[in-house]
Amino acid sequence: MNKKKISAGDLLEMKTSAEKITSLTAYDASFAQILDEAGVEIVLVGDSLGMALQGDETTLNVTCDDMVYHTKMVERACKRSMLVTDLPHRSYETPEQALDSAKKLIEAGAELVKLEGGEEVAHIVQFLVDNDISVCGHVGLQPQSVEKYGGFKVQGRDEDSAQEILKGAQALQRAGAVLIVLECIPAALAAKITAALDIPTIGIGAGVDCDGQVLVIYDLLGISARSLRMVKNFLADNGNIRDAVSRYVAAVKSGDFPAEEHSYK
Ligand code: KIV
Repeated sequence: MNKKKISAGDLLEMKTSAEKITSLTAYDASFAQILDEAGVEIVLVGDSLGMALQGDETTLNVTCDDMVYHTKMVERACKRSMLVTDLPHRSYETPEQALDSAKKLIEAGAELVKLEGGEEVAHIVQFLVDNDISVCGHVGLQPQSVEKYGGFKVQGRDEDSAQEILKGAQALQRAGAVLIVLECIPAALAAKITAALDIPTIGIGAGVDCDGQVLVIYDLLGISARSLRMVKNFLADNGNIRDAVSRYVAAVKSGDFPAEEHSYK
């Protein structure tokens, strides 16, 4: 396998040539190595670690120090995969704070930082980009805003909120984001956003027409307590973690995952 690091340019080319991009979360070096070797293009140190590792009900209590700690471990194993790390809740409330937090994550080994929000965070994305930090956006269901939604709910089902999500994604692109995660939105809306953007979209619970897919690794392996429509257990049929990850990569590449049964209307 070619060990040249995946770059933002590679992801853009994959969008252009309609090759699906694969992404999974990892929080430690052992899992990151499995993903890297299986050809997963983007390894995400997600703040989902607050739920998956720390046993919390939300991502709200995750700190920048937590993200630094896990990013350092994952970085050691990412020989080819691009490493993206989440800016946690309350770590990017002003442009200056965002830059300070992002620098810590980059120092720990992140190549991109991811933050949640649409038009309201575009000025923060712009500030980070102006300071040479590469950014991944995240619209649709934003887990750091779970209290505002009153739970983890599919977003963008009515015309106004769909329009807001689309406009948010476009604002992030204009601000210089190189990638955008679309979480828990109707498949048709994700397809529209993907077609409207030049930069790649990575979906989770956003249908098959995104440029790529991401899952929380513990969901893919059926370890998480939560059972969600958007999740498929790739370990159930064979009991081997390496095979499960390879099957996920193959299923995303071929367009077999997500199927309609994993998508929202
Ligand atoms: O924190 C995370 O793992 C994420 C993914 C679910 C996209 O943001």
